[in-house]
Amino acid sequence: MKCPHSNRIQLIALLFICAVPSAFAETVWLSSLDLSRMTAGWGVPKVDRSISGQPLVIARKQFVSGVGTHAASNFRVDVGGNAKRFIAQVGVDDSAGGRGSVEFIVSGDGKLLWKSGVLIGGQAAVPVDVDISGVKILGLRATDGGDGESDDHADWADAKIIMTEGAAKPLALPPYDAFVVQTRNFALNFGVGDDGRLYQRPVGAAHLSKKFRRAEESYPQAGDGYIWEPALQVDHADGNTSTALVYEGITRSNDGAGRELIRARLHDPAYPLEVTLNFLADGDRDIIEQWVEIVHHESGPVTLGRMASTALLLPSTNVYLTHFFGDWAKEMLSPITERITPGTKVLDSKIGVRADQFSNPSFVLSLDGPPAENSGRVLAGSLEWSGSFQCAFDNNGETIRALAGVNPFASAYHLAPGEKFVTPRMIWAWGANGLGGMSRNLHRWARDFGLRDGHKTRAVLLNNWEATGFDFDFNRIVSLYDPAKEIGVELFLLDDGWFGNKHPRVNDHAGLGDWQPNRRRLPDGLAPLAAEAVKRGLRFGIWMEPEMVNPKSELYEQHPDWVIAQPKRDRELQRNQLVLDLTRPEVQAFEWRSIQDILGVPNISYAKWDCNRYLTQPGSSWLAPDRQSHLWINYVNALYALMDKTAKTFPDTELMLCSGGGGRVDYGSLKYFHEFWPSDNTDPTLRVPMQWDYSYFFPPMAIASHVTHWGNRPTHFACSVAMSARFGMDMDLTRLSAADKAVCAGAISAYKQIRDVTQLGDLYRLEDPYENFRGALDFVSPDRARAVVFAFQLKAGPASPVRPQGLDPEKSYAVHELNPAPGRAPLPQEGKTFTGGELMRDGIVPSCQNAVEASVIELGL
Ligand code: GLA
Repeated sequence: MKCPHSNRIQLIALLFICAVPSAFAETVWLSSLDLSRMTAGWGVPKVDRSISGQPLVIARKQFVSGVGTHAASNFRVDVGGNAKRFIAQVGVDDSAGGRGSVEFIVSGDGKLLWKSGVLIGGQAAVPVDVDISGVKILGLRATDGGDGESDDHADWADAKIIMTEGAAKPLALPPYDAFVVQTRNFALNFGVGDDGRLYQRPVGAAHLSKKFRRAEESYPQAGDGYIWEPALQVDHADGNTSTALVYEGITRSNDGAGRELIRARLHDPAYPLEVTLNFLADGDRDIIEQWVEIVHHESGPVTLGRMASTALLLPSTNVYLTHFFGDWAKEMLSPITERITPGTKVLDSKIGVRADQFSNPSFVLSLDGPPAENSGRVLAGSLEWSGSFQCAFDNNGETIRALAGVNPFASAYHLAPGEKFVTPRMIWAWGANGLGGMSRNLHRWARDFGLRDGHKTRAVLLNNWEATGFDFDFNRIVSLYDPAKEIGVELFLLDDGWFGNKHPRVNDHAGLGDWQPNRRRLPDGLAPLAAEAVKRGLRFGIWMEPEMVNPKSELYEQHPDWVIAQPKRDRELQRNQLVLDLTRPEVQAFEWRSIQDILGVPNISYAKWDCNRYLTQPGSSWLAPDRQSHLWINYVNALYALMDKTAKTFPDTELMLCSGGGGRVDYGSLKYFHEFWPSDNTDPTLRVPMQWDYSYFFPPMAIASHVTHWGNRPTHFACSVAMSARFGMDMDLTRLSAADKAVCAGAISAYKQIRDVTQLGDLYRLEDPYENFRGALDFVSPDRARAVVFAFQLKAGPASPVRPQGLDPEKSYAVHELNPAPGRAPLPQEGKTFTGGELMRDGIVPSCQNAVEASVIELGL
């Protein structure tokens, strides 16, 4: 029988044996490591020799072993937490002729462990013996002693790392801590400088030099040496106006949807201020979303004067910016491409409650000259922010910095201790081969993350706005249902004018804010109108503008102080209305109640959320006098909270984003919505270029495109243009001619046949309507079995072929024109079958050649 204690004795013996080796040590000579990773201000670091190639000699004392380098020099060694001591003799090598001055610094995991003080030429070697137990990354730096680098021959003589026995050999690391934010074809390269700051390599830079220049600082801060456009400006609680962030480390995690989140932590060693740069990298789609979090624990509030979401670096030469200027009824219609020359180019808005009317927070940077559809590197940027924004492109002659974020204009933000400021997200979408691939990736991203229900096709909608304006009642609206249903409409949208009793909304002078159905027009409210629609086979939608009030309203009579206005100034009206102050809790509650009342009506399954003015007198009666500058930011954040609640409480209600046309088209709001109203201008000859421009950033399924009488264009042309986006109509069907009705019915039926391709497939922009006599597009289904080609003739032109792209070259496709225009000769290729390769090479000659004619051609099985 075994002694009961024998197992214990064996175990204790084993533990002793295992423990003993750690008491032993192994010496690893510094000169045995890979010195190609050590930097030197001059020359190449040498094994057992001074930088000049002579034996190592400090104050006439020769050393057999060691490393000769030259300030400024940096060496990082991964000792894996298994080292015990670092031992050396340091000094300026005699080969410097008695000149030179160097300071030697030893650090562990970024923390200073030992420094020599400035040593000068001829001074005796100074011994180093530092405890580095537990350290992972050993840092050895030789600085220039503060007087420039000349003659700074720096010797780490007799230098050795004492490792615990059996530990893996230390590994020389790149001279700086580095990390990459990577997608399939796009990379942002970051590195930590000798000064501890975080730097970024200009996007697409061919060579990664070892030294960082101050102009390359990532997310630069104002006040401590950075002289260009800063990303961050902080006034600290003690009044110090400078910030100096050093790198702490990163974490990487997967978001479960195939995207990697990289969080880089920075802090200011002199203040308890922490800044985290967040990058959400969508590998497959070459998209990086970036945003920043700022938090501090100072003795009182700090003031953020600038807080960009991103501050990306690009090379300084040959970078072009494409941006989109517009105005009401001309949104996105003035694309401008210009080279970014030295100086700062700013795109911004200062209109508060909507991002754009004039400038737009979406733009394209191209790195190989002006952008092209299928070649050249492009980087599209789109800021997720529905308020005043600023995008600045700062070319300092060496690099271009692209900054984007909330507009710092009049927006100083006082951040309380412990409070976290989170910037809006910036979307960066990379195209290795031009705009086409970039936008297809961005559209896929939008369907997955940027829009609600991005994988569900959109319904055919009829809006009454152009048909009735404010002039309708129950019977008039119901009279529109049957003709709509007859031609295939699926959803009816009742626009403005249904509410207000004391001050009825019979024109745009009164009623906003009083969200009770008008009793004269709709005696029993909205419910019977919605029920009647459903009975006749239509869904029912409603217009609302919850953020606004007319002074002529009961709401304003009761709460004149609820609006955004400046004391001692006349209240400036736009479209006879004012903006409610959404920073005020009672207003938040009121707007939420109004939305619930409206969307809670049975059978309402769609809503158009409008916003018909912007901020011109940004004063809040809710915010304290010293917090007025918070209005711009707090408003938008309160708006998002409201939109979020709406989307969550009414998950089956589809939402259209509208703002006096396309005043609020950005992914900040869009994530709560299904689609947007791009412009009140529905003239299809202008919608062709306008929708083209929007499509760089937004998928056509989200672009509402309605057939109306704007421009008095042929109905067939108007229908064809609408078919290339989210089809809708805005006309009085009771007055439409039978011929036009037939064209519309044909378009709707064709649209239903192809909408899975146009809304869920890939878009290829083929012929630019700004440059050609026509615009042409094609869409390809995800399995590439089907495609649809659109040709929109803007001027008369030759019968030249449109060449589709994205088809499977081997697959066969039958050519079939959808809803052909009455009286026009059929397509020469009608009914014939070709391979994708043939179609892409030879093209299809569309049946249109005259201005305002269009062809929609299906390529299928
Ligand atoms: C805005 C919208 C229009 C319409 C009107 C209603 O101008 O852009 O489509 O809804 O408001 O007042």
